[in-house]
Amino acid sequence: MEFKFTEENLKRVEEAISRYPEKRAALMPVLFIVQEQNGFISGEAMTEVARILEITPEDVLGVVTFYTMYHQKPMGKYHIQVCTNISCLLKGGLEIYSAVREKLGIGNMQVTADKLFSIEEVECMGSCGTAPMLAVNEDYFENLTKEQTEQIIESLKNKN
Ligand code: FES
Repeated sequence: MEFKFTEENLKRVEEAISRYPEKRAALMPVLFIVQEQNGFISGEAMTEVARILEITPEDVLGVVTFYTMYHQKPMGKYHIQVCTNISCLLKGGLEIYSAVREKLGIGNMQVTADKLFSIEEVECMGSCGTAPMLAVNEDYFENLTKEQTEQIIESLKNKN
């Protein structure tokens, strides 16, 4: 399906481009705008971003696949990323990851039937000093226990 920025988002794209000496440097902020508008970054959206930034769709794909914050398929309203890299692993990261999977009944990169939650096991998110951690969309939760993890999920469920 064809992807077009909304008028408002097109202005945000232009504003992002104006902050850099070269159009291509705005790729990451522009991809965030795509994801905000669409929920994920489709092939059509990558083609449109490439056209606007005057780069190739392969350049865009390279960035989308490199960074875990970009999604190529629709994720849950609350996308939970659990770090299981070394610092988190040593401080119980796998237990946190299991707690999230058990609580939601889904596996890595899956979405709950009500589309509220999705899970992703990720590499270091730069919060090693406060391991173990997880992120719900852009919000970090650190120094976690299994119980706190379950409470976080419960409180998100209760918001809806
Ligand atoms: S190892 Fe988990 S945040 Fe760095």
